[in-house]
Amino acid sequence: MSAAPERERVRLGDLTTLKVGGPAELWLVEHTDDIVEATREPFRVLGAGSNLFVADEGVPERVVRLGRTFSTLDEMDGRTDLWLGAATPVPGLVRRAQRLGLSGLEGLLGIPAVLGGAVAMNAGTRFGQLSDTLREVELVVDGAPERLPAAALGLGYRRSALPTGAVVTRVRLTLTPSTPERVAAAMVAVDAARTGQPKVKSAGCAFKNPEGDVGAGALIDRAGLKGLRIGDAMVAHEHGNFIVNHAHASAGDVLALIEAIRARVPVPLELEWRRWGLPGGDPPFPGHFLGHAVTGSVRAHAR
Ligand code: FAD
Ligand code: EPU
Repeated sequence: MSAAPERERVRLGDLTTLKVGGPAELWLVEHTDDIVEATREPFRVLGAGSNLFVADEGVPERVVRLGRTFSTLDEMDGRTDLWLGAATPVPGLVRRAQRLGLSGLEGLLGIPAVLGGAVAMNAGTRFGQLSDTLREVELVVDGAPERLPAAALGLGYRRSALPTGAVVTRVRLTLTPSTPERVAAAMVAVDAARTGQPKVKSAGCAFKNPEGDVGAGALIDRAGLKGLRIGDAMVAHEHGNFIVNHAHASAGDVLALIEAIRARVPVPLELEWRRWGLPGGDPPFPGHFLGHAVTGSVRAHAR
């Protein structure tokens, strides 16, 4: 048994890349037992906060975040089949895979996620997405550890269908043997595709690309909306699908800008961002009140 999870009042904006969002109680968990404890009451799960838009009022539920013990980049060696903790930062993982001459993660270059968030969003680019290498995950659902194959996670374009209330704890990837030089060469195009993206506070692309040949960024650009600003929220000059926070944007500024964009773009645009405490956003997960016993072993079954 571990010590009780560490709890702290935080401003969620400080833990997201968009830097918008009010207070919540953060539960930093270091062990499966902590997750079981933290998820007894209604909760949400926070990764690196790079795809999150949070209300100024914050959220009343517990916000569960995996701590250092779930960040296991150090365990990555030359093996092609490996388990990594879900708090492992994706940028470090991509760099290390390149140095080790392991291919498969090049398309994730420049994505500021941790692995759990990358699973939940099936993060990627047109050069590759996490589902290309993901084989299995371990997660805690309803207070009990489980293992699920990637095929059971409903992974698609910026989408997953994890079981309700799942906290991903470990991730199994299968990489392909290559050489550091070849992996680095494959990353050149991925890096080049990022040069037109803003470097200031954002949560990446705000909208998913709609069906069809023209992406959301190009549609917003064609509508003449780059530079459109409401309060401190602005459509980036560099890329139409990035909403940037100039300094102290409120959630209201960002919501008003989203509506202004939607009103002027002739195609319906679906938000890619996950939203907490906001209209149409993600509801919190209910807590598991029954408190299943944790056995230390992991239940393995396919769904
Ligand atoms: P968070 O934003 O913290 O959370 C996202 C979702 O994942 C939430 O619903 C959260 O509850 C859930 N989640 C997080 N951890 C877990 C867990 N352990 N178990 C269960 N659920 C969990 N995305 C792309 O796909 N491609 C890009 O090219 C890209 N470029 C970006 C560039 C910039 C500059 C920025 C700021 C963002 C970019 N993004 C991109 C968006 C973002 O990085 C991805 O969506 C990423 O997968 C989010 O991961 P995260 O760890 O930050 O998750
Ligand atoms: N374009 C414009 N104006 C703009 C933006 C883009 O005309 O303001 C044009 C570009 O010139 C290019 C085309 O639109 O011809 C596509 O642009 P880009 O290569 O930037 O790709 P994207 O579809 O806009 C997607 C992902 C990004 C990912 C890049 C690179 C989505 C919603 N966006 O952007 O992902 O980094 O490709 O692969 O799928 C994210 O999901 O958060 C994200 C940043």
